This record gives sequence, structure tokens and C-alpha cells, in this order.
Amino acid sequence: MHVDLNDHVTWVGVRDWELRKFHGEEYSTHRGSTYNAYLVRDEKTVLIDTVWLPFAKQFIEQLIHTVDLKEIDYLVMNHGVVDHSGALPELMRHIPDVPIYCTKKGVASLKGQYHQEWNFQVVKTGDRLSLGKRELIFIEAPMLHWPDSMFTYLTENNILFSNDAFGQHYATSEMFNDLVDPAELYQECLKYYANILTPFSPMVTRKINEVLGFNLPVDMICPSHGVLWRDHPEQIIHSYLKWAEGVPENQITVVYDTMWENTRKMADAIVEGIQEADPEVSVKVINVGKGDKNDVITDVFQSKGVIVGSSTINRGILTSVAGFLEEVKGLQLKGKQGGAFGSYGWSGESVKQIREHLKSAGFRVEDEGVAVLWTPDADGVEACRQYGRTFAEGLKG
Ligand SMILES: Cc1cc2nc3c(=O)[nH]c(=O)nc-3n(C[C@H](O)[C@H](O)[C@H](O)COP(=O)(O)O)c2cc1C
Repeated sequence: MHVDLNDHVTWVGVRDWELRKFHGEEYSTHRGSTYNAYLVRDEKTVLIDTVWLPFAKQFIEQLIHTVDLKEIDYLVMNHGVVDHSGALPELMRHIPDVPIYCTKKGVASLKGQYHQEWNFQVVKTGDRLSLGKRELIFIEAPMLHWPDSMFTYLTENNILFSNDAFGQHYATSEMFNDLVDPAELYQECLKYYANILTPFSPMVTRKINEVLGFNLPVDMICPSHGVLWRDHPEQIIHSYLKWAEGVPENQITVVYDTMWENTRKMADAIVEGIQEADPEVSVKVINVGKGDKNDVITDVFQSKGVIVGSSTINRGILTSVAGFLEEVKGLQLKGKQGGAFGSYGWSGESVKQIREHLKSAGFRVEDEGVAVLWTPDADGVEACRQYGRTFAEGLKG
């Protein structure tokens, strides 16, 4: 399958409707994904990126219906990781001498994975490649989201091929942002940013400002996953700038796990207290043992406050909560308030440990949290309500 974006640019990627987990088991993809590759035809013909390894054969078969492979003059690899380069070895069997344009670290990545001495052409920011009437301009984009990443800009058509930046794991039959449900699209973009790009936020801000400084007109942004931005493509750039700044929504998220519902009862009372103190604030309540880890992270990313609960087990915390806190630590979230709660039977270490985890993840932790022995009674419920009230009051307005 291929889709013409205009007279000179064709999408030649693959839709993966079935994908439910990506990066091994690390990232959930409820709506599948796409691996986007693009063919640009001028006096010269260039292929930008390929697809994930399991789709290599399908990709080449499709490509042959669109172009005689011998007509491809150049390859551009914006990012060497296997979901974009997986079809490269198969393709290079057909066109072994075609030059591959990528960053210096892209060469290292491709050589490291495929151990081939292909005709690599290293490019740096500002380097240009003439295709005839059109030119490609390369822009290195390290850590958006890997060290080797780069963007490629096509003149005349004013298209930014941004690879993983501005993408989403979202398989749809509609190719463009103006044709899909905007709420679904926003959610997938936000989830992608929250889970994958958050640690690199300072670099996101710097890189976007650098690219905006080039004053290149951008009529379309074509990422390597999901739909293409042709309607007001600047909207996703503005969302990235906002997310990179880390400005939260008016939201508090309560994340917990429980063995026998005692900590859940505490969570319910804390939520009541939050809502009494601030009826305006949006509250999300998630049992992290049952919820999807990446969706939880997305809610945490949006929140100004996060209250984490676990009962004490063997002098520690429940493994689902521990895993969640470990994940949060890696994201280096900024400017969020943290709180802790949990039921216990005798020694009651969980609340202290959660507070320590949150502090080391960069949260402000300004209170002692709330712990309840066994099942909360009326006083225990009131202590939790009061905790919720105080937490929300501190974050109000
Ligand atoms: C396997 C197991 C280990 C436990 N270890 C501890 C412990 O080390 N210290 C403690 O204070 N309570 C311990 N408890 C008691 C629980 O913390 C207590 O039952 C609590 O009320 C459970 O809350 P939950 O229903 O929210 O899970 C343990 C309970 C279980 C089942």
C-alpha cells in the first residue's frame, strides 16, 4: 500500500493494527502503530526511513509496486533503531551501493546492529542534499529521542520528516491529523511524550527553538509513527513546548495497590478530602496493580500532585508500587508535589519508603503522609480525609 501526500512525496510505510506492546513489554500500544517511510521523487529519488524488521518483506514487496528499486538514488535514515531500520538489510540486498545519509551516531547504531560496511554518508545540521528542484536539509536532533536521531526537511513542499518526535503509536486508516478523532490523537501524543520524551525535556525545548530559528516554512510534519500533521502542524510543536516546560494540569492523581482493600479504603477517603477542599480539581484514582503502567505515567505527568499508597509487606512496599516508583524516578518529572499513605499490621514501613522514593524522583514531599493500622475505622477514615484536604489546600490556585 502507498499513499501520495502530493505529486512528489509518497507514504510507503506499514500499519501494524495488532501491536499491543512495544519496546518489549515496556510500552502499551492500545491502538496499534504505524512505521512510516517516505519516498520523495524529484530528479533524484530518495527513501526516508524503512519499517520494523517483522514487516521487512511486506515493505519491500509494497515498495516495488511504487518504485523500481534501482531508481532509488539515496536513502536517509533519520534514526537507526530497528523499528525504522529493520527493513534496511533486505533493501540493501537489492541496492547495495546506494548511499545512506545519517548522523555520525547513526552510522554507529546501524553498524552496531547490522555489522555491514554500507555506503554511509555522515551529515550534520545544515547539510543539504540536492534532489533537483528540491533539497533535503538535515538537522541533528540528539536525544529526540536517541543520540543518533535527526530530522530531514524537504524544501518546496515544506515537509519536516521528524522521525520519532511528534509521533504517536496510533494505527488508523485516516492518514492525517484533521481526519482522526482529536481526543484520541491528543491522548496518544501525550502518552508518547510522557513515557518516552519526558527525560529529554530540556533538549526538546532547545531543539524546537533552534529549528524555529531557521525560519523554515513547515506545511506538514511527517513523523515515523502514527498520523501526519497537515492541519496546523504547529499545534504539535506548541504541545511539545508546553509539555517540555512541565506545566501541569489542575489534576491530582492517587496511585495505590492493596492486598485486602485496606489501602483502597484509605484512597477513597483521601479522594473525598481532596474534593471537599477543592471541588475544581480533577482527581484520578488508579490501582497500579490493575492499571496500565504507561497510562498511569501519563496521568502522573499531567498532575500537579501525586499521592502514592501501599500497604506494608515484609517491611517494604508492594512490588507494583515499587515498579511504578522506579519508572517515575527515571522520568525526572519536575515541580510536582508528592504524598504517601498505606495500611499496615505491625511495623508499617511503607509510608516512609514511598516518601523517600518520591523525594529521590524529584517530588516535593512536605508532609509525613498518613498510615493506618489494619482496616481504617472512623478515626482512620477521618485522618485520611483530612490528609486529602490538607494536600489539596496546599496546591490550590
Ligand atoms: C505477606 C504479608 C506480609 C506482611 N508484612 C508486613 C510487615 O512487614 N509489616 C507490617 O506492618 N505489616 C505487614 N503485613 C500486614 C499488612 O500490611 C496489613 O494486613 C495491611 O492492613 C494490608 O493492607 P492492604 O489490604 O491495603 O493490603 C503483611 C501482610 C502480608 C499479607
